[in-house]
Amino acid sequence: MGKLNRIGVLTGGGDCPGLNSVIRAVTKSAINKYGMEVVGFLDGFKGLVENSYVHLDLNTISGIGYRGGTILGSSNRDDPFNFLTFKDGQETFSDQSDRAIIHLNDLGLEGLVVIGGDGSLHIADQFYQKGVNVIGVPKTIDNDLSATDVTFGFNTAVDTASEALDRLHTTAESHHRVMILEVMGRYAGWIALHAGISGGAHVILIPEIPFQVDKIIHKIHQRQWHEKKYSIIVVAEGAKSLGGEQVVQKIVPESHDPIRLGGIGNQLAHEIEKMSNTETRVTVLGHLQRGGSPIPYDRILSVRYGVAAVEALINGHFGTMVSLQGKNIVTVPIKEAIKELRMVDPESDMVGAARAIGISFGDI
Ligand code: F6P
Repeated sequence: MGKLNRIGVLTGGGDCPGLNSVIRAVTKSAINKYGMEVVGFLDGFKGLVENSYVHLDLNTISGIGYRGGTILGSSNRDDPFNFLTFKDGQETFSDQSDRAIIHLNDLGLEGLVVIGGDGSLHIADQFYQKGVNVIGVPKTIDNDLSATDVTFGFNTAVDTASEALDRLHTTAESHHRVMILEVMGRYAGWIALHAGISGGAHVILIPEIPFQVDKIIHKIHQRQWHEKKYSIIVVAEGAKSLGGEQVVQKIVPESHDPIRLGGIGNQLAHEIEKMSNTETRVTVLGHLQRGGSPIPYDRILSVRYGVAAVEALINGHFGTMVSLQGKNIVTVPIKEAIKELRMVDPESDMVGAARAIGISFGDI
């Protein structure tokens, strides 16, 4: 067990409910338990490259535990290893990681807590390879990180999506419509799956199970034959038809993962109206899933993760990520966590349970 005097913390990638709660827990336990000083970098890795930071003390972090967003700011565009700079007025990308390390050293930081998802943890691991004492904290509403049972923020997003489905039910029923809810989930359909089951969706479409529009139409018609004149579909933004492609909304070149998805809901609505003659409306839940206060489950998980991150630094478990496994928080190599994304298993009991209560995945 080593003595550390000064550590840094940053929030990277898309924001997520619970970030402030982790910042608070890191700062409180570092100060209260170990008498450390804590520095927070602004706007994710951008702050590290540009040396923009704030000192975090017990006053700065007071009362932020229940607040959404991040007091430090975040960015899912700035990768120090491929950083957007300007040379002779021209945009160019260059490796600015050494500059970031100089800033860490100048500030006397002996450890860095990176709160982030897949992209930010990739970057964190690259810094670890260059000798920085990094600890990762798994964040993403998509819940697609390997090596942890759950990321914080996910359950709040499910809560939001589930409430949206409850609301869509009543209006869908009044107008005998098909209502499509498009939720986030780039490569993994966890939000759609969980919200769909809890919110009583009739069709759940996820990236892991390619769908066929005629199977969805069949489900809608089947319900209509049984006097159920409305249907609710929840679709993950990354879902695609059998043999089809994901719907890309835009490309952000400076981002670690440049593809931004969106639009599958509208595309599907068009086809459903054409093929089933049933009025169809689309709601894109978008960033409402990322905003707002974390639910108690995520607040508690965030506190446990933040405290565990400080312990991991003290114990010298550099290059690891704190992770929930069963009931316990453990540490796992960041490499392990970013090796592959955690996807929904189409053969899992959760998908099986959904099918058993009549939910269609648009495949059979
Ligand atoms: O963090 C993941 C995520 O929430 C994805 O589900 C979504 O595609 C993406 O972020 C959206 O990012 P942006 O904030 O750049 O629109």
